[in-house]
Amino acid sequence: MRILTGVKPTWNGMHLGNYLGMYKPFTQKVKWHEGFLFLPDFHSLTSVHDADTMLRNKHRLAAELLALMPDDAPFMIFEQSKMSHINDITWILSSVTSYSLMLRAHSFKDSQNKNSDINMAVFNYPILMAADIIGYDVDMVPVGKDQKQHLEFTRDIAGNFNKTYGVDFFKLPEPYIDEELALIPWIDGRKMSKSYDNFIWIFDDEKTLKKKIMSIVTGSEALEDMKDPDSCNVYALMKYFADSSKLEEIASKYREGWYGYGHAKLELLDMLLTYFWPARKKYQEYIDDYSLVEQELEKWNAIAEKLHNDKYIKLKKIVGL
Ligand code: ADP
Ligand code: TRP
Repeated sequence: MRILTGVKPTWNGMHLGNYLGMYKPFTQKVKWHEGFLFLPDFHSLTSVHDADTMLRNKHRLAAELLALMPDDAPFMIFEQSKMSHINDITWILSSVTSYSLMLRAHSFKDSQNKNSDINMAVFNYPILMAADIIGYDVDMVPVGKDQKQHLEFTRDIAGNFNKTYGVDFFKLPEPYIDEELALIPWIDGRKMSKSYDNFIWIFDDEKTLKKKIMSIVTGSEALEDMKDPDSCNVYALMKYFADSSKLEEIASKYREGWYGYGHAKLELLDMLLTYFWPARKKYQEYIDDYSLVEQELEKWNAIAEKLHNDKYIKLKKIVGL
């Protein structure tokens, strides 16, 4: 089975919500299947209009994704804009996609509510996303809940193409949405998100990381008071990074008293630094010498491009070009 997902380089990089909600489930699935993770940089152009920012975001995200890649679950990481025919496939798909379908897209309607005018790329966004997926005969696409409609569009667009030309050419991909992980991690009771400025970047320096963890909202009980681990935001995050015996030990400390939220936060910091230590070390190496990242991407870009081009050559024949 072939699994693919994309992470847009629009911000600095990965926060804990992205990691727990998207990256980790992806790597777990990939242990048993063939995995493609790519940077949809053409998609970022809908909102990033400055070359330096674009490059900086992309470099940082590529280094992070690579640094987080587990040894036992290898997959390809590549760049969308290195696929020579991605926009040709998008155009062909646009030619069989109805305007009325596109008018139903939440992403475009949301942007339209925020801005008086939107760019055409925001409107066409789901068609490019369909070309990302069906251009590689992908079976499954792990995404967050917010992408559910885009996946439905992808299936509609693929199905419509097959019907129009009387072929069984594009595979209809299945979305994979982990309902439990879809909204869990937070530091102030809300979904951890860039939009709420309540996120924890995985690759921040230790000082910034500590400051962020210390700002997690907790109860206001005194040090000696007994506390409830199950209603604590710090403990909620610990669940992802500690084994069950460690968690049990910490929960008892909460209930016994004389264990302050400050202690818990330092313990969480320690867990994160230990858990992400190998990735943080690799990340630093990649940032110090970005050519290491480029070498890896080049290798995978070539493999992905070959697959995508083969599909395009067949596609051209079907439509008579
Ligand atoms: P943000 O919400 O910070 O803007 P993105 O929209 O860039 O994050 O999300 C990238 C991926 O990470 C998506 O698949 C999304 O569903 C997932 N994700 C983001 N935040 C969380 C969260 N708090 N919990 C679970 N998954 C998340
Ligand atoms: N639209 C996705 C997002 O905003 C990014 C993306 C582009 C994507 N192409 C994709 C995700 C293909 C999965 C598969 O997060």
